[in-house]
Amino acid sequence: MLPQKVLEQIRTGRQHYVEELSDFLRIPSVSTDSERTDDTRRAAIWVLGKLQKLGFQAELCETARHPVVCGQLLSDPTLPTILIYGHYDVQPPDPLDEWLTPPFSPNIRDGYIYARGATDNKGQCLTYFEAMEAILAVSGKLPLNVKVLVEGEEEIGSPNLGPFLQENLKELKTDVVAISDGSQFAPGIPALTYGLRGLSYLEVEVQGPRFDLHSGSFGGLVANPVQVLSELLAQLKNEDGTVAIPNFYDDVRELEPRERQEMAELPVDETKLKEYLGVDRLVGEPDCSIVERKTARPTLDVNGIWGGFAGEGAKTIIPAKAGAKVSMRLVPYQRATTINELFKNFVNSLVPPGVKLQISELHGSDPVLVERDQPAIQAAARAIEFGFGKYPLFIREGGSIPIVGLFQEVLDCKSILLMGWGSPDDGAHSPNERFSLEDFHRGILSAAALFFTLEESLEA
Ligand code: BES
Ligand code: MN
Repeated sequence: MLPQKVLEQIRTGRQHYVEELSDFLRIPSVSTDSERTDDTRRAAIWVLGKLQKLGFQAELCETARHPVVCGQLLSDPTLPTILIYGHYDVQPPDPLDEWLTPPFSPNIRDGYIYARGATDNKGQCLTYFEAMEAILAVSGKLPLNVKVLVEGEEEIGSPNLGPFLQENLKELKTDVVAISDGSQFAPGIPALTYGLRGLSYLEVEVQGPRFDLHSGSFGGLVANPVQVLSELLAQLKNEDGTVAIPNFYDDVRELEPRERQEMAELPVDETKLKEYLGVDRLVGEPDCSIVERKTARPTLDVNGIWGGFAGEGAKTIIPAKAGAKVSMRLVPYQRATTINELFKNFVNSLVPPGVKLQISELHGSDPVLVERDQPAIQAAARAIEFGFGKYPLFIREGGSIPIVGLFQEVLDCKSILLMGWGSPDDGAHSPNERFSLEDFHRGILSAAALFFTLEESLEA
């Protein structure tokens, strides 16, 4: 499958790949942080430089915020085309004092590289570039036409990438999209992902009196925004863990018995999971397994809440305002625009007299399902088997990659290959994020193999 020479080339390159990954990880490309705008751009330029070194025709495409890196290396118009998607932006690193070594000074210990972005997504994204570097070094050309799209706004919901796709349909036209921005089912159990959840994310603000009041002088007279907000949030879920917003489940379909059975057979160790999470009990919908709850059922979570006095000691006030961020993970066939409306209608209907409420939409992305029964998927499974030494499980993931739905709808590409090289315990979005160097290496092997398995299965 993978030419022996390419395999040897990748084995020889191990140290060099880790050095390049370290360089990439040193750039603090936190897309949500406006003070990091220049650093975020530096990461885009880093990717651009890497592509140019590989011989790609590549450029930075400006958007309203962070640039998109686009490139192509076309071998032969009769060959199939693959589009590789990834993101060079990362989540904020805080809480900083929980990091054992600083988030943007990559540190290697026990076979892992620790840094913000190590697994999500710099390390996983780089595997494709290193794989191509090896193939090009050995044979001077790639077995497929390759397009690359690496964006800097994934962690803030890809607000500018949708319009960018619309404007560049022809340039981005492709037979398959390859994405490694997720994880294996468990360490050492590789997986191919055929489903992603969508996301509706809103912010709620409750405004009470014009300013913070003395709670002795005015307590008993005015509605308290923190109290109102708490009661409002408490009504979003039922006691059994289901979401209480009317019509929220209307578009959710029951799993087919076959899929339910498959999910039931996935190896989950509840005791170990609770230990890893540091909780003594898991919660969620009754009658749904852990795997179903975390990948195939919709959820609602309060992501943050603020208001009033939270400093040292006591301060007797009625706060003027309170706010919360609330997000909902969506499953096929829910739509983010519909759910945002349902949320707003319901929350508005709960507001008691004496306060004003404002709701803003932070973002929405639709869930994804990929048809499993297609040659490109089988080619991806064989590539993973080659790199990881085991045939992958087929799974859905609970996370979201906002642009993927638009690859299907706008780019009209149904062959989306979601191949996570990371591991669920890499700590994406958490302090001490890491990526196993062994997984990095296996990812490079799998990415390289993918070019050849796709060539074989799509060429006819
Ligand atoms: N890599 C993740 C998506 C992911 C997480 C896939 C877990 C599979 C398993 C991605 O970078 C991410 O964090 N996405 C955000 C999107 C949001 C900010 C719009 C997410 O899921 O929260
Ligand atoms: Mn992420």
